[in-house]
Amino acid sequence: MTRSILRMSLSTSELSLSERLNRPLSIAGKPVANRLWLAPMAGLGHIAYRELLDLYGGCGLMFSEMCSAKAVPMENRRVSPVFRWRDEELSHLVCQIVGATPEEMVPAARRIEDEGFFGIDINMGCSVSGIVKRNSGAALLREPEAALAVVDAVRKEVDIPLFVKFRTGWTKDVAPAEKLAKQFESAGVDCLVFHPRVAPDKRTRPPVIDNIRAIKEAVSIPVFGNGDVVLPEECSRMLDVTGCDGVSVGRMAMARPWLFAEWTQGFVPGDNIFQEYALHFADLLEQYYDPTRALKRYKLFTVYFAANFTFGHGIQSKFLAAKSMDDVRAAAREHLRPGLQLTRRPNMNMYNT
Ligand SMILES: Cc1cc2nc3c(=O)[nH]c(=O)nc-3n(C[C@H](O)[C@H](O)[C@H](O)COP(=O)(O)O)c2cc1C
Repeated sequence: MTRSILRMSLSTSELSLSERLNRPLSIAGKPVANRLWLAPMAGLGHIAYRELLDLYGGCGLMFSEMCSAKAVPMENRRVSPVFRWRDEELSHLVCQIVGATPEEMVPAARRIEDEGFFGIDINMGCSVSGIVKRNSGAALLREPEAALAVVDAVRKEVDIPLFVKFRTGWTKDVAPAEKLAKQFESAGVDCLVFHPRVAPDKRTRPPVIDNIRAIKEAVSIPVFGNGDVVLPEECSRMLDVTGCDGVSVGRMAMARPWLFAEWTQGFVPGDNIFQEYALHFADLLEQYYDPTRALKRYKLFTVYFAANFTFGHGIQSKFLAAKSMDDVRAAAREHLRPGLQLTRRPNMNMYNT
C-alpha cells in the first residue's frame, strides 16, 4: 500500500491538529488557506487588529466586525470605523452584515461583492438589544420566513460565497436550527458558522457542542463550529465530537493572535511577544483611528489581552488608566516584560462579559 493510500485510510482524528486544520477546503469553489478562522467581533475585529493578525501569519478566513447593512452602500471606506479594509486582505476577508429585510441587505451585498471581498456573512447570532429590537441578528431566528427572505434575496444578488452565522435559537431545542440550516442550504448558502448557545445567553453558560454535530449532520455544505475554543485540545475536541469542517475563534484571537499560526504552522512565540503585541497594536490603532476612538478600542481589547496573565486584573488596570496612546506604550514597556506569569488557559472569568 502506498503512503497516500495509508494516509487516506486514517480517520481525520488520527491526524495532528495542524494536519486537520490544513486539509484543503474550498467554499463555493474558492480555496481557503486553512480551517481555522477569525470570528466576527464588533469593536475588536477591525482593520488594525486584522493587519496585526496577518503579520502573525494570518488565518484561513477573517470575518469583519458586523457592518450595518443600511449604512454599507453609503460608507466611505477611508473614514468608516467598521466598513474599512486593506486591499491586500480582501482575498481572505468576509464582510459581515446585519439587517432585517431584503431591502436593507441586498444593496449592501451588492457593494461588498463589487469591492472584492471573499464573501458575505449574514449575522443571525447577535442578541444585543439594539440589534434584536430592529428585528436583526438573532431576532431573525424567531422568524424563519424573514430569515429566508433575506438569504434568498442576497443569494440572488451576488455570486461570491455566502455565509450565515447563527445560534441554536431562542430555546434549547436544536430542531428549529437544524430545519433552518437545511433551508439555508437549499437557498444557496455556501457555509454555515454555528455557535451553539441560545440567543439570550451572553456566553455565561457553556456552549452545547453536540448541537454543532446536529447542524453538521443536517446539511452537506461546510459547517464551522464556534464557542469557547481556547486550547488546541479544545479545538481538536470540537472537530472530533461534532465532525465540523473547521473552527472559528473569537475572544482567544484577541488574547493571542498568533494562535492561528501556532496551531496551523507550528509557530513558536518569542519571550517578549506580549509586549511586542501590545506596542504594535497601539501603533496600528493610532494609524487608522482618531486618538479618542483608538484609545477606546485599545481599552476594549485589554480585557482579552490581560486574561493571559495570572495577575491579569492588575495589568489591565494599568492600561485602563491610560489617557493617551503614549501612556499605553509606557504601561506596556513597564509592565509587560519577559517572564510574566502566564495562565495556560486565559482567565475566561475576566472576559465572559
Ligand atoms: C466583543 C464581542 C463582539 C462580538 N461581535 C460579534 C459580531 O459583530 N457578529 C457576530 O456574529 N458575533 C459577534 N460576537 C460573537 C463571536 O463571533 C463568537 O461567536 C463568540 O465570541 C464565541 O466565540 P469565542 O468563544 O471563540 O469567543 C462577538 C463577541 C464578542 C466577545
